[in-house]
Amino acid sequence: MNNKNLVDEIRSKLDIVDIVSSYIPLIQKGKNFLGVCPFHDDTNPSMSVSREKQIYRCFSCGAGGNVFNFVMDFEHLTFKETLKLLGEKANINVDGIKINQKHDKNQKFYDAYQLGVKFYQNNLNTQDGKKAKEYLKSRQIDDKIIKEFNIGLSLKKPDDLTKILLGKGYNLNLLNLIGLSSKDKDVYIDRIIFPLTDVSGRTVGFSGRIYKNQDTNKYLNTKETPIFKKGELIYHYFESKESVRLKKSVIVMEGFMDVIRAASIGYNNTVALMGTAMTKEQLTLIKRLSNNIILCFDGDSPGQHANLVNGEQFIKAGIDVKVIELHDDLDPDTYILKYGKEKFESLVENAVNYQDYKISSLKNNYNLTSDDEKVQYINSVIETTSKINDEIHREIILKKLAIEVNIGYNTLEKRLQAFLEKNKNEEEKKVLSVYKEPKKTNKRNKYITSSLATLYYMLIKSWVIVKYDREGIYFPEENMRFLASEISYYYHKYGSINIADFYTYLNDKENLLPLYNEVINANFDDSVKDDVVLDYIKVIREGILKTEIKRLEGLIRNTTDPLEKATIAEKIRCLKIGS
Ligand code: UTP
Ligand code: MN
Repeated sequence: MNNKNLVDEIRSKLDIVDIVSSYIPLIQKGKNFLGVCPFHDDTNPSMSVSREKQIYRCFSCGAGGNVFNFVMDFEHLTFKETLKLLGEKANINVDGIKINQKHDKNQKFYDAYQLGVKFYQNNLNTQDGKKAKEYLKSRQIDDKIIKEFNIGLSLKKPDDLTKILLGKGYNLNLLNLIGLSSKDKDVYIDRIIFPLTDVSGRTVGFSGRIYKNQDTNKYLNTKETPIFKKGELIYHYFESKESVRLKKSVIVMEGFMDVIRAASIGYNNTVALMGTAMTKEQLTLIKRLSNNIILCFDGDSPGQHANLVNGEQFIKAGIDVKVIELHDDLDPDTYILKYGKEKFESLVENAVNYQDYKISSLKNNYNLTSDDEKVQYINSVIETTSKINDEIHREIILKKLAIEVNIGYNTLEKRLQAFLEKNKNEEEKKVLSVYKEPKKTNKRNKYITSSLATLYYMLIKSWVIVKYDREGIYFPEENMRFLASEISYYYHKYGSINIADFYTYLNDKENLLPLYNEVINANFDDSVKDDVVLDYIKVIREGILKTEIKRLEGLIRNTTDPLEKATIAEKIRCLKIGS
């Protein structure tokens, strides 16, 4: 069996609805299944999964593909890794399959960083690394941790790494572009180096910490580069995945020393935002790790604030989140060092539900001796309570509140019902407003629409391919022409086209994927009559004619030779009467 058959067989043995729903909740609506798209920041169900076609598509961000695309993008895996994962699920051995690995245009950048990591690691074990080693030891970072987190050291010499990389054939422009050098000097001088990895585990940046009494920024981070996007970086994301799966939860912290410490006592399911602010991109990424999220920011007031602000963002995204409260301004690193593993373990086990955390923090915001503020306080506690799904949990909170503020339980209950009603209405409004597939086609000009339609019908009606082969159809955009010729090629090579399998074929032709998604997502009617398709093709041809006439008219204006003018005019006349 050749590769294609084997790969298609894996795809056909799996049901995309089963696989997608193992990552995100899906609800059935008619023939399709709907869910919140994990590939962009959203809370509405704009992703639709089709069992019939075995594809998914998002009407909001335009993502789409077959089961391989979904798993690849969700898990940040290569095609080969995805095949292995799904091959196991389908009971098909993929060891013998050869895959053309896509060439990554940034490979050179990653390679440079990899050399940097090795170089800095090595420094730590030299004579010049003694002080740094002592510093790490004083912070109870032993060799095992140093190795696990690839910690290194940049020395005092101002152009150590730059020289080495120049010697390996990298040029200064590139080194400056990716933030390893600044002009002809190193960026990192005399700092302990923590490599920062992207979602696929490749080092894309560094954070360098001072380790003597230096009078400068504690940490120096790589600048924004083509491979280092600060807002998308989460420390230890890739490395945490296996443990997140086993422990079925992820703990979100502020600093990477916190993560390193937690990992050293067995909590590898930890990630750090590298600060307290969480970007939308980070939220989307964390959502994909687990739906059991535990926040563990520092015990100081910015940390408490971060628990509230970030917790609220998760709640808005429809995710339950818990909070670990640290006291006395401690961060997880110092907490664990001070109180040990068992104490931290019990904090994790007793992490409180976000709404409870919020309610207990509300008290600090109001002056309860003022009647007005007391009313506001009661209202905000009840409003927060109304967001809790569990009825018993709500009753427990209200009973406590009744005693605390000395107001009758029934009065509070009535107010709770009002909030519940309001939430329900808002929820319904949201659901009703959601599932209107945007009619993008109206906004496009008719040549483009006709081209997308023709491409679509090439996929599902072989006579359109035959017509394309015989007469040629000149699509107005280059990538459309490429896609059409790929469709025809595939059809002739394999004898038929399956929309889901064609996605696999496009895997190493990445520039065609967005267009293919556009074609599929435009939702053309599968059951149209052939006449309709012929009309689309006619429109494309008219469009081409018009463009050609326009071009020739431009030519006439720029020509002075009367004879040439006449020749072009004749050409135009012929085109217009269609001969
Ligand atoms: P912290 O100041 O809490 O760092 O900042 P930390 O992890 O406790 O580090 P140690 O224990 O002092 O060594 C939290 C995170 O904010 C970012 C870093 O990513 C840090 O992990 N940060 C902090 C910077 O980027 N630059 C700074 O100057 C400080
Ligand atoms: Mn800290």
